[in-house]
Amino acid sequence: MTKKDIYKQLINDLPHIIDGKNHYLTSLANLSAELKLRFSSFSWAGFYLYDGDKLFLGPFQGKPACEIITLDRGVCGKSAREQITIVVPDVHKFPGHIACDGGSNSEIVLPLVKQGRLLGVLDIDSYEHANFDDVDKVLLERVVRYFIEVVTFPDFF
Ligand code: SME
Repeated sequence: MTKKDIYKQLINDLPHIIDGKNHYLTSLANLSAELKLRFSSFSWAGFYLYDGDKLFLGPFQGKPACEIITLDRGVCGKSAREQITIVVPDVHKFPGHIACDGGSNSEIVLPLVKQGRLLGVLDIDSYEHANFDDVDKVLLERVVRYFIEVVTFPDFF
């Protein structure tokens, strides 16, 4: 299967994976597990959530990671601050990249924004070089859009 096929299958399965009636943490946890399980090239997949000031570690799959990321730091901080998806083919060349796992070589970070409100970011790492491209960007943005639409986040976000 190509990665496009895996994304298509994941997108088709989303209504079975994400139930809007569930607690938002449950949905974040299961989506991170689905991503990590389905893509063997992902070394870490998870969420950092925004508390109005900084990002804190949310549900994830992979090695233990940095607990707090301020918006002026790292790929996650930049994605959250600018509310854009960032594809990093070589993390060693990204100024300010935060290496939670020294084995990571490439990364993609997508902002979670609902009606202009920043909720957090989806962060995915890979040990492979240049593992992420426009296919990942476009299809993961679709996954995130669906997720944001269906899941109810509490007001404090
Ligand atoms: N590399 C990220 C930090 C989070 S870990 O990759 C899980 C960054 O630079 O923001």
